[in-house]
Amino acid sequence: MKARVVLSLLGVALLLSTQVGAAEHKTPTAPADFLSKVSPIKADEADEATLKAGAKIYTKKCAKCHGETGDGKGSAAGELTIKPANMSAPGYMAGRKDGQLYWILLNGSPNTDMKGFGPGSEQNFSEDEMWKVITYMRATFTK
Ligand code: HEC
Repeated sequence: MKARVVLSLLGVALLLSTQVGAAEHKTPTAPADFLSKVSPIKADEADEATLKAGAKIYTKKCAKCHGETGDGKGSAAGELTIKPANMSAPGYMAGRKDGQLYWILLNGSPNTDMKGFGPGSEQNFSEDEMWKVITYMRATFTK
């Protein structure tokens, strides 16, 4: 086979594999020691200052992908190969443990545009900031 034919076949294979990859992607599940983590702040008992702090982080750092309401339709979402889920779909937040949300926020989700925001990352959020933004999401998105 001519090199050019081989190259274009490889190109097609690569294109197909990335598309299949996106279609089959599943958000990884946190390991057991993380899944059992419970937020130090109860979303339905959060005070105004906590919700305000969470809202500020969410609007500045998360909404461009996740959308203001958590629907996954932020202004930058169109360019992402793996899209953020609609977290405002009924049952979505209720079906996610604190530890799951925290683990993804801390470490990011490999092979997606969801980067880790935890201590030592570029964003360098403190534990407190991570729980505040999660509290805000729980308190305001559809349960
Ligand atoms: C550049 C786009 C982008 C930004 C900015 C972003 N995310 Fe994400 N996020 C994603 C994508 C894409 C996924 C889906 C990852 C997957 O399915 O593996 C995701 C997944 C998540 C999840 C996992 C949900 C689940 O079902 O387990 C959480 C929690 C999350 N993001 C929170 C945040 C928070 C909080 C911020 C802001 C501090 C943020 N994200 C900023 C793109 C982004």
